[in-house]
Amino acid sequence: MPLQFTVQSLLSRNTLGLPAQAAVAVLDNEADIPGLCDVVRGASHTGQGRVDSAVQAMPPLFVLGGGSNVVVWPSPRRRVLRVALRGVRLLDETADHYLVEAAAGESWHDFVTYCLAQGWHGLENLALIPGTVGAAPVQNIGAYGLEMDQRLHSVVAWDLRAGRAYTLLPQDCGFAYRDSRFKRDGAGRWLIVRVRFALPKAWAARLDYPDLRSHPALQGASPTPADVYAAICDIRRRKLPDPAVLGNAGSFFKNPLVSADQAAALRQRFPGMREYPQPGGQVKLAAGWLIEQAGWKGRRLGPVGMHRRQSLVLVNHGGAQAGDVQALARAVSQAVWDRFGVCLDQEPVALD
Ligand code: EPU
Repeated sequence: MPLQFTVQSLLSRNTLGLPAQAAVAVLDNEADIPGLCDVVRGASHTGQGRVDSAVQAMPPLFVLGGGSNVVVWPSPRRRVLRVALRGVRLLDETADHYLVEAAAGESWHDFVTYCLAQGWHGLENLALIPGTVGAAPVQNIGAYGLEMDQRLHSVVAWDLRAGRAYTLLPQDCGFAYRDSRFKRDGAGRWLIVRVRFALPKAWAARLDYPDLRSHPALQGASPTPADVYAAICDIRRRKLPDPAVLGNAGSFFKNPLVSADQAAALRQRFPGMREYPQPGGQVKLAAGWLIEQAGWKGRRLGPVGMHRRQSLVLVNHGGAQAGDVQALARAVSQAVWDRFGVCLDQEPVALD
C-alpha cells in the first residue's frame, strides 16, 4: 500500500512549538520509498494511463526529522514526510576505525550516547544537539570545535526526482559551515535514509573551544570521551534553553562571514567585537554578540523573544505563530544591519 497522507497537528513535532495542520505521512520502512518517488515525480497514473494532474501539481515534499530547525506556518501547502526509520549497527571494523551506520529517524543525541556506551568514540563534542541523525548532514551540524563532516563516512540518500538511491561520500555532499548540497539542491529532492560514520580507534580529545578548555571536568591530564561528553552536556544545559521547557530552534541565525577588510573596519569601531579568522581569509563574526550589542538580548516582541543567556536563540514564550517569529527575525536582522552593516542569515527553514 502506498504511503498515506493524513491531516495532523505538527504542534508537538517542531521544537519552536508553533501550531500547524499539515498533510503528513510517516516513513518507517525503506521499502515504501520507490512508491513515494512515483508520487513525487507525478508518475502515478489514474488507471487509464492518464497522469493525475492533482498529483503533478503537488508542491515539493517537506522532509521532517526532529523539527528542531524549522519554522512551521499554520497551514503549509507542502506535504510532510516524517522520517521514522530506525536502527543502529556496526557495519565494519578496520585497524583504525569503527564504521557505524544509523538510520535517519534515530535521535541524534541518543545515537551519540549509544556510541559512547559501545566504545565507539569521536562524536562527544556533538552531544545534546537536538534533531535526528538524518538531519545532521543537511546542515552539517557542528558545535564545540567539531563539525559532523569530520566524522562522516557516507550518506545513503534517495534522489526523489531521479527515483534512485545513492551513496554519497563527504566530498560529494558539498559541506560548508551549516550548509550542504542537501540544502542547496532544492526543496524535496533528497531523502536521507542512513548515515555512516568512521569513528577513530585512536581517540584524542578535541578541546579547541575556549568554553571547553576551561571546563572544570576537563582539567585532568588525560580526559576520557565520557569526560568530554559530560562537559559538553553541562555547557549546553547551562547556556541553551531546553526546547521541552521553552520552545526554540537553537541558533536562529548563522554566524556571518565577512571579508578581512570589513572585519578590520568594524574592529576599529567596535574594539570588543568577537571574531574568528577563517582559513580562506574571511572572518566569522559571533552573531550572538552582534545581536546583544544591537540591544536584543533578552528582549521580547509579542510572544517571542531573544534568549536572555544566548541572544542567538529565538524563543517562544507561549502561544506564538510563525508570523510572530518572522516579525522578530526581521526586527533583529534590521537592528544588526543598522548598527554594523552586517546581514544575518536565518538558519531554520520555513515549512509553508
Ligand atoms: N556572545 C555574546 N552574546 C550572546 C551570545 C554569544 O556576546 O548573547 C558571544 C560569546 O561570548 C562568545 C561568542 O559570542 O564570545 C560565541 O558564542 P557561543 O560560544 O555561545 O557560540 P555561538 O557562535 O553563538 C555556535 C553555534 C552553536 C554551538 C556553539 C558552540 C552557530 C550558528 N551556532 O554558537 O550551535 O552550540 O557555537 O560551538 O554556529 C545551534 O546550532 O543550535 C547551536 C547552538
